[in-house]
Formats: sequence, C-alpha cells, structure tokens
Amino acid sequence: MAGNAATVVVRAPGRVNLIGDHTDHTGGRCLPIAIDRWVEVAGRTEPAGDRVRLTSEALRSTVDVPLDGGEPATTEPEWGRYVAAIVKRTRPPSGFAGTVRSTLPIGSGLSSSAALEVATALALTGGGGAPGPPDLSEPADRLALARLCSDAEHEARDVPTGLLDQIASIYGVAGHGLLLDCTSLEVVPVPLPPDDEVEWVVVDSGARSLGRSAYGVRVGECRRAEAEIGPLGAARPEDCAAIADPAVRSRAVHVVSENRRVLDFAAALRAGDLAEAGRLMDESHRSLSTDYESSTPEVDALCAELRAQPGVLGARITGGGWGGCVVAMVRPGALPLPDRAWRVRPSAGATVTTTAH
Ligand code: GLA
Repeated sequence: MAGNAATVVVRAPGRVNLIGDHTDHTGGRCLPIAIDRWVEVAGRTEPAGDRVRLTSEALRSTVDVPLDGGEPATTEPEWGRYVAAIVKRTRPPSGFAGTVRSTLPIGSGLSSSAALEVATALALTGGGGAPGPPDLSEPADRLALARLCSDAEHEARDVPTGLLDQIASIYGVAGHGLLLDCTSLEVVPVPLPPDDEVEWVVVDSGARSLGRSAYGVRVGECRRAEAEIGPLGAARPEDCAAIADPAVRSRAVHVVSENRRVLDFAAALRAGDLAEAGRLMDESHRSLSTDYESSTPEVDALCAELRAQPGVLGARITGGGWGGCVVAMVRPGALPLPDRAWRVRPSAGATVTTTAH
C-alpha cells in the first residue's frame, strides 16, 4: 500500500554544544542548543514511485536511491550516504522526490549531517503512508528517531559518534539549552539568558584535520578507561588516578571533569551567574585541549583571541573538534563579527508541515 500523495516540508536545525563535549559516547552529560539555522527537506510522496530522489540546492547534485536504501556506505554523491542510510532504516512505502536547502554552513561542525538525517527521516515518514510519522510530542518517538538517525550516521560515516547532535536537532526548545544525560537519556530544558543579556557567537576556525579517525581513537581510549574503572558517566575524579596509561588517564580526567562542569554550568545559568558560566566554558576548552587533546593550535589561538575582547564572557571549541567551530558567550553587540562567524539563537527542534492531496 503506497498511500496517497502528500507534500511535506521539514526543517531540522543544526546545533551548538555550549558545554560537555566528548562525553555523550560514554553516557555523560552535555548542554547543546538547537540553533536558528537549519536543513530543509521539501518534497512530494510519489505513490507509484520506487525511488527516493533529493536534489541539494547548495551542492547542486541529486541523490537517487531505491526504497531499500541500496548501499549507503558507497552512495554517491557523498552527502547521499546520509540519505541512503535513512531510507534503509525508514523503508518508505512509496517514492519521494524533493529538494534540500540549508542555511547551515556545511561541514563546519554545526551538525549539518544530523540536521539532514532528521529532516530526511521526518520527510520520508511524515508524508503519509505506513508505518506513520513519529509523533514529535511523544518522548518515545523522539528518542527512537534520534537513535535511528544516529545509527544512520554511523553507517554513512563509520565514526562511533553519540546522540548529542540528533537529540539537539529534535528536542530543541526556543530560549533554552538542553541538559542531556546520555545514560538516562533524560533531556531537561534550561532557560538561557535573554538576547539582551547574552549573545551566542559561533566562529568557524577554518581549520580541519583528522577528526574522523582521531574521534574513533579517543572513543577507544575511553573504552580502555572504562575497562579499568567502570562507566565514566558514573566515575569520580579520584577514580581516574587508578588508570595506568597516562594518555588514557587524561582522556578520563577530561570526561569526568566535563560531566561535572555541565552540571555546574547549568547551575550557574539558573543562578544568573554569567561570569561563572563563562569561566566554566574556558575551563572546558582547556580540558579538551590539554587532557582530551581534541583541539588544534589554530583553535586554541582563536579562543584566546576571543577571550581577550571586552564583553566576551567565555569561549571554547564546540562539537567534534580537531578544527571546526568555537562558541563564545558574549555581551550583546560587544564583538564585531569576524569572517565566517554567526550569531545563533537557542531555537526549537525540527518541525514538519504536511499537506495531503
Ligand atoms: C560530534 C559527535 C557527537 C559528540 C561531539 C563531541 O559532534 O557527532 O556525538 O560526540 O562530536 O561532543
């Protein structure tokens, strides 16, 4: 049963993680925001069709895959791997043809891939036909969608990432950060200071390096730490001293201290203590740079440069690392925007608009 034709427009936001990086894959804590930049998938179901075809306006190319997704890992063009991996998991009952538009800089570390996964999954399931769309007001549906998209990411990119990006894109709340516990998968919205008190500025360092393979190496080191002291999500700082290998110990020290900083950051925001929140962002950067070693000299220099400007309360690398973006908490208007920088606002998660024909 292919169902009736429908048009569907889905917008899924990118994310900026304000604090808590490289903690999600060991059941730790993070505090991302969904941002006011998104990937949109807009198109029509084709009841008699047997392909999913999406054309990217920005990349000027089309992905065309069968309804079983084909071979995601080798799909061309490369961005189509995310689409194919989503098709493979959602198994749409009929064809779909549409376009992909994006206001997110692609490949800058603002999770354009997670936004594409979420938008594609919702477009393919929200446009009518069995098994029916996920209900985004239902916690179980939201989590299942995040997991499906994260599994697709693993297949498309072969990097053992966590759920941070997909949860931020799906669960975003305007004006709020999302305090995410990756063991319980509980998401608690934390009110952020209003726009006239704080701006969130993201600056692309322009630097890119071996993030993919290094990310996997770090996940392996965290697993080794867990083999010695148990789940890092539950470990205390003093437990890390028992880890024999100094590099593995440093990774654990980062994760355990970062989990604490996330809670302290949320508490500082709730108390309106922006100076303390900014200090924790700076401290998080130091930990990522020194203990987790996921920064680069360019990114360290960019953070230092930002912090030296009056009105910048804190600055840190955000996301996967080894280049990518820095996020700064700034007094409104204090920072003239450098090139490749954006003011981002904490925004709502993905939205779906469907019209049946
Ligand atoms: C990438 C991954 C996330 C998370 C961050 C680091 O964005 O996709 O799962 O691990 O890096 O916090």
